[in-house]
Amino acid sequence: CAAKLNEGKTKQIFELPDQPGLVLVQSKDQITAGNAARKDQMEGKAAIANKTTSCVFKLLQESGIKTAFVKQHSDTAFVAAHCEMIPIEWVCRRVATGSFLKRNPGVKEGFRFSPLKMEMFFKDDANNDPQWSEEQLLEAKFSLAGLTIGQCEVDIMNRSTVAIFEILEKAWATQNCTLVDMKIEFGVNVKTQEIVLADVIDNDSWRLWPAGDRSQQKDKQVYRDLKEVTPEAMQMVKRNFEWVSERLLLEPQASSRVVVLMGSTSDMAHCEKIRKACTSYGISCVLRVTSAHKGPDETLRIKAEYEGDGVPTVFVAVAGRSNGLGPVMSGNTAYPVINCPPLTPDWGSQDVWSSLRMPSGLGCSTIISPEAAAQFAAQIFGLTNHLVWCKLRASMLNTWVALKLADKKLQACSL
Ligand SMILES: Nc1ncnc2c1ncn2[C@@H]1O[C@H](COP(=O)(O)OP(=O)(O)OP(=O)(O)O)[C@@H](O)[C@H]1O
Ligand SMILES: *[C@@H]1O[C@H](CO)[C@@H](O)[C@H](O)[C@H]1NC(C)=O
Ligand SMILES: *[C@@H]1O[C@H](CO)[C@@H](O)[C@H](O)[C@H]1NC(C)=O
Ligand SMILES: *[C@@H]1O[C@H](CO)[C@@H](O)[C@H](O)[C@H]1NC(C)=O
Ligand SMILES: *[C@@H]1O[C@H](CO)[C@@H](O)[C@H](O)[C@H]1NC(C)=O
Ligand SMILES: [Mg+2]
Repeated sequence: CAAKLNEGKTKQIFELPDQPGLVLVQSKDQITAGNAARKDQMEGKAAIANKTTSCVFKLLQESGIKTAFVKQHSDTAFVAAHCEMIPIEWVCRRVATGSFLKRNPGVKEGFRFSPLKMEMFFKDDANNDPQWSEEQLLEAKFSLAGLTIGQCEVDIMNRSTVAIFEILEKAWATQNCTLVDMKIEFGVNVKTQEIVLADVIDNDSWRLWPAGDRSQQKDKQVYRDLKEVTPEAMQMVKRNFEWVSERLLLEPQASSRVVVLMGSTSDMAHCEKIRKACTSYGISCVLRVTSAHKGPDETLRIKAEYEGDGVPTVFVAVAGRSNGLGPVMSGNTAYPVINCPPLTPDWGSQDVWSSLRMPSGLGCSTIISPEAAAQFAAQIFGLTNHLVWCKLRASMLNTWVALKLADKKLQACSL
C-alpha cells in the first residue's frame, strides 16, 4: 500500500514506490447530495473538474510548457512529478472582476488589462491568503527541494504565468469563451530542481465568460448567471470542454501544411532541416523537387496539386544560385511563399538578390535559416491554428527561461 505524502481539502498525494520521483494525485469526491437540479449541476461540475486538469495539462505539455503532470491514471487521479510546492498563488487577469474590484475601488468591472495584470497571494489559510509583493516573496527566502526562491525564480514564475494564461486564453477563444482570470501554483520538481506548473488547473482555477459578444461584459445579469454557474452555462462549458479535449487536444492537426520545393536534391539536407522544424510545430511537411527554370510546366502542375485539395499551405522555395522558383511560385499563387535559399560562402551574397529583388506585384518573403523559415510558416498558421500558436508561445517562454538560467549559472561561477 502506497504511503500518503499529503492530504488537503480536495486532494490526496500518494508515493509511487515503483516510480521514484513521481506521485499519484487523487482528487477526493466532492459531490454532495441535494435536490435533483443541484445534483445535476454538481455532477456536471465534477465531471468538468475531473477532466479539466488532464486536458489542460496535456494542452500545456503538448505546447512545450514544463508541468508536473505525467499522465491520467483514472477518472479521478493522475500521475505527476513529485514537487515541493511554492506556497504562492499566482493570479493573472485579463478582465477586472471579483476581488480585484474590491481592492481597487474605482475600477469598473470589465476593465481590460493589456498587458495582463499579475498578482500573487501567499497561501496562508489562517490569514486569508494575503496579497504579497515581489519584495515580500524575495524576503521570505523560501527554499524548496534545495532551490532558493530568489529574483530569477520569481521572474520565471511571473513570465510562465503570463505564457500559460495566453495559451489557455487562445484555447478558450476557439470556443468563444473569454478567459477572464486564472490562478495557478508552481512547484520545484524534487528530481530536477526545475520550477514547474504543478497542483491542478480545474474549474475553480479560472473564470470563463462565454464571449463572442462584447456587449455582455456590461450585462450584469448574464454575468451574475455565469458567476453562479447555472446549469445551462455549465452545460455549455462542459460541451466546450469536451470539444476542446476531443477535437483540439487529441486530434492530429492535418490542417496545416508546408510544401518545400527544391531545385535539386543537392539541397536535401537544407530541406530536411525545414521539415524537422515543421514537425516540431505539428505541421506536416512535404518535399518536392522541381526547377522553375528547367521545368516550369511541372512547377505549376505541382503548385496546382496543393492548391486543389483545400489544405491550408505555405510554400517554401529552396533554390541555389539564381532563385527562379520562389518568385515564379509567388507570381502564380495566392498562398504565401517563403524563399529559403541555401546560400554558399562563395556566391551567397550575390545569389541572395535573386530572392530579395522582385518584380512588382510579388509578395514572397526571404528567410535564410531553414529553421527560421519553418518558424515563420508556423507563425502564419498560428493566426488560425491555436495549437501551433501555443507551441510558438511556449517556445518563446522556454528561450527566455534558458537565457535567464544561463545568466544565473554564469553569475554563480564568477562569484
Ligand atoms: N505534484 C505534486 N507533488 C507534491 N505535492 C503536490 C503536488 N500537487 C499538489 N500537491 C499538494 O497536495 C496538497 C493537497 O492538495 P489540496 O489542493 O487538497 O490542498 P488544499 O487543502 O487545497 O490546501 P492548499 O491550500 O495547500 O492547496 C497541497 O498541499 C498541494 O500543494
Ligand atoms: C469523475 O468521473 C467519473 C465518470 O467519468 C465519475 O464516476 C466520478 O465520480 C467523477 N469524479 C468526481 C470527483 O466527480
Ligand atoms: C468545481 O467543481 C467542484 C466539484 O468537483 C465543485 O465542488 C465546485 O463548486 C466547482 N466550482 C465552480 C466554480 O464551479
Ligand atoms: C510580474 O512582472 C511584471 C513585469 O515585469 C511586473 O510589473 C509585476 O509587478 C510582476 N508581478 C508580480 C506579482 O511579481
Ligand atoms: C462563436 O461565435 C461566432 C459569432 O458569434 C459564431 O459564428 C461561431 O459559430 C461561434 N463558434 C463556436 C465554436 O461556438
Ligand atoms: Mg489546493
